[in-house]
Amino acid sequence: MKTPQPLLSLRTPSAAHENGDVRGISVMMHHHAGRKTLRWICHIAYLCAAVCLLPAQAATPAIISDNAIFKPVQAQQAMVVADEPLAARIGLDLLRQGGNAVDAAVAIGFAMAVTYPRAGNIGGGGFMLIHQADKHRVTALDYRETAPQKAHRDLFLDAQGQVDGQLSRFSPLAVGVPGTVAGLLLALEKYGSLPLSRVLTPAIQLAREGFPVSPDLHQALQSRRQHLSAAAQQVFYHDGQALAAGQTLVQKDLAATLQRIAEQGRAGFYSGDTARLLIADMTAHGGIMSLADLAQYQPVLRTPVQGEFRGYQVYSMSPPSSGGVHIVQLLNLLSAYDLRTLGHNSAATIHYMAEAMKYAYADRAKYLGDPDFVSVPVAGLTALEYAQQLRKNIDPQRVTPSKDISAGQPPGYESPQTTHFSVMDAAGNAVANTYTLNFSFGSGLMAPGTGFLLNNEMDDFSAKPGVPNAYGLVGGEANAVAPGKRMLSSMSPTIVLKDQKPFLITGSPGGSRIITTTLQIILNVIEHGLNLQEAVNAVRVHHQWWPDELSVEQGLSVDTYHQLQKLGHKIKESPWAMGAANSILRAPDTGRLHGAADPRRSSAVAVGF
Ligand code: GLY
Repeated sequence: MKTPQPLLSLRTPSAAHENGDVRGISVMMHHHAGRKTLRWICHIAYLCAAVCLLPAQAATPAIISDNAIFKPVQAQQAMVVADEPLAARIGLDLLRQGGNAVDAAVAIGFAMAVTYPRAGNIGGGGFMLIHQADKHRVTALDYRETAPQKAHRDLFLDAQGQVDGQLSRFSPLAVGVPGTVAGLLLALEKYGSLPLSRVLTPAIQLAREGFPVSPDLHQALQSRRQHLSAAAQQVFYHDGQALAAGQTLVQKDLAATLQRIAEQGRAGFYSGDTARLLIADMTAHGGIMSLADLAQYQPVLRTPVQGEFRGYQVYSMSPPSSGGVHIVQLLNLLSAYDLRTLGHNSAATIHYMAEAMKYAYADRAKYLGDPDFVSVPVAGLTALEYAQQLRKNIDPQRVTPSKDISAGQPPGYESPQTTHFSVMDAAGNAVANTYTLNFSFGSGLMAPGTGFLLNNEMDDFSAKPGVPNAYGLVGGEANAVAPGKRMLSSMSPTIVLKDQKPFLITGSPGGSRIITTTLQIILNVIEHGLNLQEAVNAVRVHHQWWPDELSVEQGLSVDTYHQLQKLGHKIKESPWAMGAANSILRAPDTGRLHGAADPRRSSAVAVGF
């Protein structure tokens, strides 16, 4: 496959960079030194730079120092880390009863559709990475939504040819054909060990009998009321008020839908009563999804994207997610720098990460889309030679403005809501699952009688190539709308192996920030040697090429902020915490499991035994 060329006209590397000046040493040296001294300083600078560019060794990860302020939960045999405790415990109970990691993951997936309606779903889609211990194999399961057959390239353009965000986000046209049910059923059938009814029963009970609303759910409902349809409001609000924390949320229609799935399998969702209720309501409100779209939906098993970083094998989600490609591309780009010596979240480390991120997101806009519709140069983008080529454009002392790479118009962001959970069982099977409705509570639409919320994933297509979507992501032709096509995603469920055994299970929500969040978890553990909880808690940064700003979470030191500004970064404190990377690590020395729930989601838990 042809190695992709860097996009557009990239800056010629500066003379300082040609001399290997990667730490800003040369800035100080030219003024006062004589020629001989200057030559010596140049040599020393060059050597330092060379050291900095040598492939570094991995830190010794997984050591939990007594002094550490944050420590992961530890367990010997099995672990679940998820955004919602009732669902996490359902998964853990199945593991305790002899179920494997896939049984647990499927049970959690269905349970979160009940207990975590802002992102847990049966009306959306997602991706699951599965490590089979007995086969030493990692498989990628793609259950991303598809565009209905009546969709077309200009579906979301108004009469003036402008993108209508309301249509692509909050109308029946926003809804992609849901993939979650087919995906979870396929996972169970191929890799699980328990019958469907057993795995679904806890979710059905929670929906039928109800559960106490958590403060987190109450708050989420309060903030999104104006986006929820009348049918959805009937479920989650009483007398116009979001159910209060502690009140019982009963979802009878959802229980009936789940019961039909338990009894009829795929047909209980993609045909019969559920399908009829869904399509009747969509059609009545101007939707284009048909019974045939539902009947034809198929999840796909794909080969994950694979890369190597400091002796670890990184497996992540392949297209139609952009996640795996760019995580591997970024690790390749950054592998030449000794970030560990430069320091975790130091200005120099963040500078290299941010500059690398820009090139990755520029490539994302141009090359990434549904591989069943467009040719995605995965091998080229993840090749070490390509990283080497791109790295020449990274100036250690100065920001390369995004406008020198390309241009775009930044919109505001929508709050990114997706959910990731990680599961590991005693046999070494592992699951990294990220699924979503796109926005919090998706499109807010719910067909009366079905009880489940519908996604607004169609907004992840490029409604008009070159115009950014809700996450500010600029897309290209490769991600234009087409019938039956999957919209490009950033979801990046990731499994890192060491010596063929799962070492790190991770991933995150966060829209466009999913890729950079997941990247930083990997770097924090492998490069910086942080324990898993420190790695998950650490302040995150993000650059997505456009808008041309370095987004940072609260808590970056003022000194670092100023250093980065001196290098030319336009820094913007993110209005949200970035992602929620619920992760598991198996300590190679003891075999113990470390679980880290992300504190950015107040309800997230790590549970194990
Ligand atoms: N809906 C966000 C994503 O799939 O990346």
